[in-house]
Amino acid sequence: MAYQGEVIWIIGASSGIGHALAVKLADEGATLILSGRREEALETLRLTLKGAHNVQVMDVADAANVAQAVSAVRAQHAHIDRVLFMAGQYEPMGLDALELAEATQMVQVNLMGALHVIAALWPSLIAQEYAQFVLCASVVGYMGLPNAQPYGATKAGMINLAESLYLEAPPHVDVKLIAPGFVRTPMTQKNLFKMPALIEPEAAAAAICDKLSTRGFEIHFPKKLTLVMKLLRMLPYGLSLWMLKGLS
Ligand SMILES: NC(=O)c1ccc[n+]([C@@H]2O[C@H](COP(=O)([O-])OP(=O)(O)OC[C@H]3O[C@@H](n4cnc5c(N)ncnc54)[C@H](OP(=O)(O)O)[C@@H]3O)[C@@H](O)[C@H]2O)c1
Repeated sequence: MAYQGEVIWIIGASSGIGHALAVKLADEGATLILSGRREEALETLRLTLKGAHNVQVMDVADAANVAQAVSAVRAQHAHIDRVLFMAGQYEPMGLDALELAEATQMVQVNLMGALHVIAALWPSLIAQEYAQFVLCASVVGYMGLPNAQPYGATKAGMINLAESLYLEAPPHVDVKLIAPGFVRTPMTQKNLFKMPALIEPEAAAAAICDKLSTRGFEIHFPKKLTLVMKLLRMLPYGLSLWMLKGLS
């Protein structure tokens, strides 16, 4: 019961990794605030979880809606131990066929969504005695990959944002970055290619929960994919881009 008595806000809990995290953290004794846009999915989840939890419907793309949701959550929880920003949107597309409406939505959710939450919540979070704020990026953000935009750019931005937040955070506030490889969720059902080192959402949730209370900044998994990507990122561009060009 590693999370017994903690209040944890999962933003993006209605499916995929966030959903699996909710199940795991509730089993471990946490009290959860479950957010996303789909109230029915969140309520269904809440009813299946061990313990008593709250649903807070919230569209992270809408700054005013986020501010309202933060006020509502704060009215119930003066102290929040951890905030896990898992919300994300992804549509596969090549840069030769950019769908601007979908691209805007990805930027609005993946990047602006995180900024909306930071704007509304960070001041009260750092005023607490202790807090943790976790942002979910992706290994796709380590380096530009073929047919990965604009999603990849939002995740590269998320990594940069998490680094700045970590540096700006006072000592009693922990900031972490999650960089998953491929996880079998509704998001990756859109991928028509064979995903290397694909894992199940329960394995992703276990990898995250194992490391949430450790000192490290980044939680990345599965290692057989993330370490290759990290190595690629360290190579000179001449070599890494030549290797990646073969994938496009
Ligand atoms: N699956 C992978 O292979 C993979 C790899 C690397 C990183 N990631 C990242 O992991 C996170 C979780 O993704 P997933 O694979 O679990 O995908 P998912 O099953 O599609 O879940 C995405 C979650 O984000 C929420 N969301 C989307 N738009 C939102 C909005 N405007 N406001 C509030 N919530 C919103 C969804 O809830 P509603 O629809 O109810 O709003 C849902 O709960 C994302 O940040 C994703 O980019 C996933």
